[in-house]
Amino acid sequence: MGGSPQLPETQPVAKSPIRVAVTGAAGQIGYALLPRIAAGQMFGPDQPVILHMIEIPAEKPMAALQGVAMELEDCAFPLLADMVCTSDLNEGFGDVDWALLVGAKPRGPGMERNDLIEGNGPIFTGQGKAINDSGAKGCRTVVVGNPCNTNALIAMHNAPDVDQANFSAMTRLDENRAKAQLANKAGVHHTSVTNMTIWGNHSATQYPDFENVKIGGKRGSEVISDRAWVQGDFIKTVQQRGAAIIKARGLSSALSAANGLVDHVRDLCTPTKPGDWHSVAICSDGSYDVPAGLICSFPVSVDDAGRYSIVQGLSLSDFAVDKLAASVAELEHERSVISGLLG
Ligand code: NAD
Ligand code: LMR
Repeated sequence: MGGSPQLPETQPVAKSPIRVAVTGAAGQIGYALLPRIAAGQMFGPDQPVILHMIEIPAEKPMAALQGVAMELEDCAFPLLADMVCTSDLNEGFGDVDWALLVGAKPRGPGMERNDLIEGNGPIFTGQGKAINDSGAKGCRTVVVGNPCNTNALIAMHNAPDVDQANFSAMTRLDENRAKAQLANKAGVHHTSVTNMTIWGNHSATQYPDFENVKIGGKRGSEVISDRAWVQGDFIKTVQQRGAAIIKARGLSSALSAANGLVDHVRDLCTPTKPGDWHSVAICSDGSYDVPAGLICSFPVSVDDAGRYSIVQGLSLSDFAVDKLAASVAELEHERSVISGLLG
């Protein structure tokens, strides 16, 4: 008689893959972003993904996209379940759980981001419609292509069947930039900087909020007393960082932008550390006197059930209120420029 038969090792039940669309997948940000999604850094180390990679229907970008797909294949990522390469929007957004709208022209030296609005805005009408018609129920959309707040507004208006709360635009790169500047000034590691809000537009009018930030758990003003720096160089550096990167690199930020998007999506899928928050541009509900309906960056936290909300009750000085008002005025102006695209 032999011993008891050997039982097979218990395998954890595999999660079914989610579908993630990335537009502009052959571009600079796409190249830095796709491997991070496929490696599990956005949706977690046990979540398989099917990448839907979307480019414009022209020979060069589609050939470049094939090259990117070949490289992804050559990475043999365990979590990459499949890939779709297409320029057809309904195929590209077909059944996707997340739509990451990166594809758009970047600005060049001397331009502001909203100089791109007339060229880039129309991209988001067709994409909004395709997400509406072909995305999975509950599909969530993040806009990165600039000017991202107003492009998100366009996509949201062209997807009338999708909950407006499922649209956001990315100001997480600005949050990360602001944290890095404060950490440098305070001589601490950037992970010590929490509760960092970017208010308003992803533009030169954005307001990085020093009054509510914490450094090592203390109020920022207890750690950095140089008020002139805070109200001057700090704000300006964060507002102008994108332009500084373009000047230095000759190209707009890509790896830090991809990283910002990984952080943005991961932290929308994860309960926020108690007491902390992150910056996300979402559809205003009128909080902090920002007119309802604008896509504006707010402090946002996510609860244990995965629902996000705007953190309420932060105090804003007259200085902060003026800065936020200027950014909101710019968002209203951008909306008036593209009002014909709002469906
Ligand atoms: P890029 O030029 O390197 O790549 C853009 C890609 O998008 C190209 O491959 C292009 O073919 C593709 N594309 C253009 N129109 C498209 C469409 N309608 N559908 C699908 N694909 C399309 O540019 P990039 O450096 O990757 O930047 C992309 C966008 O992201 C720019 O608008 C840039 O300003 C913006 N951006 C935003 C942030 C932010 O913080 N929100 C940060 C960095 C860059
Ligand atoms: C950034 O902030 O780096 C991007 O929005 C690119 C730009 O045009 O500044």
